[in-house]
Amino acid sequence: MSHVLAAVAWPYANGPRHIGHVSGFGVPSDVFSRYMRMAGHDVLMISGTDEHGTPILVQAEKEGVPPRELADRYNRLIVEDLAALGLSYDLFTRTTTRNHYAVAQELFRTVHDNGYLIEQTTRGAVSPSTGRTLPDRYIEGECPICHYPSARGDQCDNCGNQLDPEELINPRSRINGETPVFVETEHFFLDLPALADALREWLATRTDWRPNVLKFSLNLLEDIKPRAMTRDIDWGIPVPLPGWVDNPNKRLYVWFDAVIGYLSAAIEWARRSDDPSAWKRWWSADSADARQYYFMGKDNITFHSQIWPAELLAYNGEGSRGGQPGGYGTLALPTEVVSSEFLTMEGRKFSSSRSVVIYVRDFLSRYDADALRYFVAVAGPETTDTDFTWAEFLRRNNDELVAGWGNLVNRSISMAAKNFGAIPPLGDLTEADETLLRNAREAFGTVGRLIERHRQKQAITEAMRVVGEANKYLSDQAPWKIKDDPKRLGTILHVALQVVSDANTLLTPFLPHSAQKIHELLGGTGVHAPLPSIVEVEDLDGGPGYPVLTGDYTVGARWESVPLEVGRALAPPKPVFKKLDPSIVDEELAREAG
Ligand code: MF3
Ligand code: ZN
Repeated sequence: MSHVLAAVAWPYANGPRHIGHVSGFGVPSDVFSRYMRMAGHDVLMISGTDEHGTPILVQAEKEGVPPRELADRYNRLIVEDLAALGLSYDLFTRTTTRNHYAVAQELFRTVHDNGYLIEQTTRGAVSPSTGRTLPDRYIEGECPICHYPSARGDQCDNCGNQLDPEELINPRSRINGETPVFVETEHFFLDLPALADALREWLATRTDWRPNVLKFSLNLLEDIKPRAMTRDIDWGIPVPLPGWVDNPNKRLYVWFDAVIGYLSAAIEWARRSDDPSAWKRWWSADSADARQYYFMGKDNITFHSQIWPAELLAYNGEGSRGGQPGGYGTLALPTEVVSSEFLTMEGRKFSSSRSVVIYVRDFLSRYDADALRYFVAVAGPETTDTDFTWAEFLRRNNDELVAGWGNLVNRSISMAAKNFGAIPPLGDLTEADETLLRNAREAFGTVGRLIERHRQKQAITEAMRVVGEANKYLSDQAPWKIKDDPKRLGTILHVALQVVSDANTLLTPFLPHSAQKIHELLGGTGVHAPLPSIVEVEDLDGGPGYPVLTGDYTVGARWESVPLEVGRALAPPKPVFKKLDPSIVDEELAREAG
């Protein structure tokens, strides 16, 4: 048993989330957390909406509402969508809570006290026509490194390098195309060079990451420069230093505060439990049995394998300038940064503005959550960019989920219900019986290890292999042909049902909704796969209330084969999965085009 922190990237509360967002890290982090809980670990899965910075401000301006109102609206929408997907967050909160403000400010202050935030005069972009500050990501120009023509002021999407807007060749405003002017302004810079050796030492111990993530992270150290952690902006967390805290136009950089959400959400969760210090079990560097896994899309790697660990090292006083840990004690650095690649759609990059998009909500209004979860697990962007096509979605759903798994469940339970009305006893076992039972039992080790190593595609493929073997077993044994040997008939059906039960457990992390239904079809009672719920809470420190996602996940199936109880009543099953009509492909494509 160990303490496992599943830290899931925080979606911006600036719009509804599309299936690309949830495919990269939403579903994978849930599969991982569910499995780890079933295997007996004490998992804390946390996230929330990211509600500061220019992404929120710009959208608020577009919609003509104050940023807080925009964040409130999309926070709620996102919470509802993630709940509908069955993502088992212990706490999904937001970055506008008073708790988060206090934690973020405590980190800033300690990092500053330890000497890793240096005040510097720098040049910031201003729009000449409005006089307002132009956020980095709203400046576009040619990348000075790879010469990609539309690099953003903060980062080049082509070569992945972090940039300063002033480095761009021919910078222009993405809002109105004008050339920004650069004026002098004061900011606090995180002294990354003073943390580089500590970062390198830490990364040297991280040998088992996905190679592309590790290589990317090590490369980042090559050209390491101080990075501004404050912004000229009026929406965000005040800079907690005298002379700054009352300045309404200076705020913490959104990425400085967002990553701190992983800590503040754990603290909020603990404060809402009966042990306010419980967060330390996942967060204290002294908690020897604690592991921290971070889930995100590849555009977030920099912030999780460099900026956040640098903030933590600086907080701990572990860079070349030394220092003392702050009030939270020495905090643990990530065990692993698990990054996915991108999901494209029918060959194109997802883009809300160009309406190449499938919102989670629209998807779930027409298809089941587990149908999407299945597709993501078996064909998602785990280690390479992957294309979502409706034709492939249809094929995976109909040929694999319905014709493979659904069919096995259906025919095993129907035959047993019809012939016995209950789980029949086992007679003598043939070699075929033994082999199938053994393969299903042994899959627990294989599938579990694969999930733990973030190889979910292989993991679900192994689980589905058991399903395939069981279908073949039924075809070979042809129990429907057995007329006057009830003992053998019962044995075959018992074996089939036992393997249905085992395969159901193996598939539970991936398909929690259907796993619960199949558990009940097999005559089981109680919670098999716990689901999250939306709870309206008060802010712990007097701010406005908000909805959170949370749940009791201590109940539910364990990661093991549970022998079926002979005599347990069975009813004729209702189909668990829906076969889709091939016409949906053209319908969906027409919807996008229209
Ligand atoms: N909001 C960011 C994005 O969508 C992700 C933030 S992850 C966090 O790219 F941990 F930093 F919050
Ligand atoms: Zn570039």
